Parts: sequence; C-alpha cells; structure tokens
Amino acid sequence: MSLRLENISVAVPDGATERVLLDGVDLDVGPGEVVAVTGASGSGKSTLVAVAGLLRQPDGGRVTIGGTDATALKDRRRVRLRRDAVGIVYQSSNLLPALTAREQVAILAHISGRRDAAAKDRAIELLTRVGLEDRLDARPAQLSGGERQRVAIARALMNEPVVVLADEPTASLDPELGELVMQLLIDEARRLGAATVVVTHDPDQAGRADRHLHLHRGEVAART
Ligand SMILES: Nc1ncnc2c1ncn2[C@@H]1O[C@H](COP(=O)(O)OP(=O)(O)OP(=O)(O)O)[C@@H](O)[C@H]1O
Ligand SMILES: [Mg+2]
Repeated sequence: MSLRLENISVAVPDGATERVLLDGVDLDVGPGEVVAVTGASGSGKSTLVAVAGLLRQPDGGRVTIGGTDATALKDRRRVRLRRDAVGIVYQSSNLLPALTAREQVAILAHISGRRDAAAKDRAIELLTRVGLEDRLDARPAQLSGGERQRVAIARALMNEPVVVLADEPTASLDPELGELVMQLLIDEARRLGAATVVVTHDPDQAGRADRHLHLHRGEVAART
C-alpha cells in the first residue's frame, strides 16, 4: 500500500471536554488507486487530508507512506517525506502571484534540491498534459480559475509523489469545468501510479474514483 491510515483519531480541546474530529478512521490506498472522500461540512474531510498529507499529526493511529511509518518520524524527517512523497491540491490554487505557470511548477524540483536540467522540461511536459502549453508564461492574475487549478495539479505532480491528495479541488469551478479538471487530476495521478485521495461534494465526481469513503462526524459511515 502506498498510503495506509490506521485507526486515526484527532481531537481538540473544547472547554472542559474534547471534541473528536476523527475517530478510528482506516484507509488503504494502493498505487494508482483513486479514493473519493465525501461527507457533510464539518465531517472531518479536510482534517483527514491534513493527517494523510503529514500536515497534522494525529492524536492516535498511524500513517504509512510508501512503507514508512510517518507518524513515528522526527519532525524534520516527516517534513522531508511530505515534500518528497506527497502532492496536495487545495480548494483554491494557492499559486505564488509573482511566478509564471512554468515557474510555479518547476520551483518544486528546486525546493527538493533536484537541480537537474530535466526539471524545466518536466514542468513544461506536465503543463502541456493539463492543456496549458500556450499559457506557460502567464502569471496567476492572467489565468482563469480552471487554468489556475490545472497549474496547481501540475505542481502537485511535479515531484512524482507517491501520494496525491486533493481537497475539493474543483469547488471554485463551474460544474462542467469542475468535471474536466477532476478527470484530469484522476488521469494524471493514475498515470503516475500515485495513491490518490480526492475530497468532493459532487456525487458524479465521486463516481469517477475507484472507491469511495463517506465520513459522518469523524467516523467512516460507508465504504464502497
Ligand atoms: N483546530 C481546530 N480546532 C477546533 N475545531 C476544529 C479544528 N480544525 C477543525 N475543527 C473542526 O473539526 C470539524 C471537521 O473539520 P474539517 O475541516 O475536517 O471538516 P470538512 O469535512 O472538511 O468540512 P467542509 O466540507 O466544510 O470543508 C469541524 O467541525 C471543524 O469546525
Ligand atoms: Mg474541508
């Protein structure tokens, strides 16, 4: 399994008691497999993505990425594993205003210390794959919402991550474009062989995944 979540629990203090955000969640995602996560607002979807993406340590349970128990790592090593093995697409694209599309993507290789000349070519190849070959030198302000999300997808895939996570990546797009961008993300993640988890509110989009996990108040309410 490329991504394994075992018995994940997350709780936050709430006055004298605590508020449970995730309660005993298990999820295994194999290479090239796509799992959709759905659930009402506040059911814990983004918390699950934060835990799987090593952005938040769970209070209980274990996260294993590519065979490494990430929850047991020291902070610095966990940060490195996240950088090298996890690609995340957020609801809004979080692009850097000053950088062109090709720079947004290529900079990832630089951050990871891969200074190979092939990085620039790979950035262009990924942007071409998401249909942006004519927008390589455009900055975020010159791109449409859908184009920005496609840059964010290319950026998430740049370091050939073992795990790809997307938290409502099409929420800011109209349904037609949302479907297109979601399909692109799924196709590219499968092509790369990444274990992929996509949060969505859209049942049609969830239907494009291989499997489906439904959360209700921090617990797995259904699995298909
Ligand atoms: N740091 C925190 N402290 C307290 N409560 C939190 C914290 N982070 C999240 N929560 C609460 O945990 C619950 C789950 O939040 P989460 O963001 O995971 O939900 P979600 O399923 O992604 O919802 P949405 O569909 O609205 O994005 C919510 O009730 C939220 O208010
Ligand atoms: Mg959320």
